[in-house]
Amino acid sequence: MTILADQWGIHPQHFWLRGRRPEQPIHFDEKLGMWHVYGYPEALAVLSDPKTFSSETARLFPVEIDQSVFEGNLVQMDPPQHGKLRKLVSHAFTPKTVADLAPRISRLTHELLDAVADGDRIELVADLAYPLPVIVIAELLGVPSSDRDLFKEWATTFFESTNQFSLTDHSEEQERDFQAQMEQTGVLLAYLREHTAERRRKPRQDLLTQLVEAEVDGERLTDIEAVNFASLLLLAGHITTTMLLGNTVLCLDLHPDEAARVRANRSMVPTAIEESLRFFTPFALTHRATTAEVEIAGQRIPADRMLAVWAAAANRDGRQFARPEVFDPARNPNPHLAFGRGIHFCLGAPLARLEGRIALNILLDRFPELRTHPDDPPVFLPSPDLTGLGALPLRTG
Ligand code: HEM
Repeated sequence: MTILADQWGIHPQHFWLRGRRPEQPIHFDEKLGMWHVYGYPEALAVLSDPKTFSSETARLFPVEIDQSVFEGNLVQMDPPQHGKLRKLVSHAFTPKTVADLAPRISRLTHELLDAVADGDRIELVADLAYPLPVIVIAELLGVPSSDRDLFKEWATTFFESTNQFSLTDHSEEQERDFQAQMEQTGVLLAYLREHTAERRRKPRQDLLTQLVEAEVDGERLTDIEAVNFASLLLLAGHITTTMLLGNTVLCLDLHPDEAARVRANRSMVPTAIEESLRFFTPFALTHRATTAEVEIAGQRIPADRMLAVWAAAANRDGRQFARPEVFDPARNPNPHLAFGRGIHFCLGAPLARLEGRIALNILLDRFPELRTHPDDPPVFLPSPDLTGLGALPLRTG
């Protein structure tokens, strides 16, 4: 099996996808002014200790940001506020809410594939992997899925930069990237504000209504919190599952013998999806800020320093995973860090897994082959934050 990392546009920083291991499990990057965490036990220790490793990282950014954009944004919050809000939104976003979506996900997958014009080819991302999750999350929230171009434009500004965010970079380019993100975020928040206000006036059967109505210990979400949380769901809820689906199909294409096993025994679909999350980790990294001086892997890190926790590299650590370079769709247990760990563990993991399982099963049912062709190679997204496909052309017959 060969990963054609350069040809497919896999980001140059992703050395673990080029068969290399880090020289040290953690390392200070002078250029970016932050610590890279590459090892599994080290990443796990960071994610499991929110007191020392805070998620409120924006205070260390080199540019001013309007703090109100972080209210209600779970991923940027620490205890005790994080726990309160997570409890509140978990009241609205329940396992039953997700499980009830199964028939709709299945129908949508079929409709999207029916609409593909060319009989023996599909472009998996544009034809299925992008529209499916974005339609599902929009319908769940109760905003028109026909507005998805707006959501896409917004998500794109977040992930179009090919440079890793830097604490030492005071350049106009980084400033411009931030401004563009803030402006685009402003447009989306205004859009969601309108919908949220409308739900307060006229409740409907949707998640947005449940978010404004959810109540725990006499507390409710403020409008700003509800809007910011809805925007987080909209962003987190689509590009990630898009990557999961594309990556899984590419993993199977790269490993024809394993693909045949999964095709023949569909009870392997769930473990194949977990292995794809380990092998090509969609959100390659997450950030934390130290609140006190701390030692990791023998290195002293002062307080108020930023850490880039590379789950994607940790998921290839031989100290945790036997034969980490091998894609084994039967790997079990598979304690990968693709959905994070600890108090911030991905709230949408059940939805992502459900969408992945349903869509992969339908693809395998409908197409006798799902193979890439060397003339028309896969294209990875350009952001160092992501490991996922922007395009995956496939032959299907
Ligand atoms: C948190 C990955 C799908 C909503 C996270 C985190 C990761 C992650 C790594 C933790 C971030 C941190 O610790 O800083 C993924 C991946 C997905 C996926 C790889 C798909 C394959 C989704 C979906 C939704 C979602 C479909 C919603 C519909 C969230 C939310 C959080 C979160 C709300 C914040 C939880 C908290 O901070 O308490 N996700 N995610 N994610 N994710 Fe996902």
